[in-house]
Amino acid sequence: MPQAVNVRIAELSMNDLEKIAWTDEFSVGNKRLDEQHFKIVSFINKLIDLPSFNSQAEALEYITQMLAYSREHLDYEEQILRENDYEEYSSHAVIHQFYIKKVEGFLKMSFNDNDRLKHEILKFLKEWWTYHILEEDMKYRPFLESKGLT
Ligand SMILES: [Fe+2]
Ligand SMILES: [Fe+2]
Repeated sequence: MPQAVNVRIAELSMNDLEKIAWTDEFSVGNKRLDEQHFKIVSFINKLIDLPSFNSQAEALEYITQMLAYSREHLDYEEQILRENDYEEYSSHAVIHQFYIKKVEGFLKMSFNDNDRLKHEILKFLKEWWTYHILEEDMKYRPFLESKGLT
């Protein structure tokens, strides 16, 4: 694992309420994918600003919107990798499916204890997306570059 990723993940567990700082380190070298990743990271940072979910409806609205942003991105990323015969396509798509199932699971939760659940969701989203972009997505960067898909 690259040292930068290790440091980033260690920082995460130390302070869950710190926003994800978007740097060039997050770039996978493709403009549209970077834009989608940026949108998702910004949406996670928005959750950090929220003291807690004020109601069940507010929590469900956030999770539903996150699912929509996520699906839009994951579908596009899978399409670009599949159409260009990326070798690790299948295993990468399985990781995406795990994520979608996990976030769909949040929709079934009861938000009576808003602070705890908000924290749980935030922690999952921060850790998953930071690790996924910096570690898993970054593996296809040289592949996309070799295909001229920037
Ligand atoms: Fe991915
Ligand atoms: Fe991605």
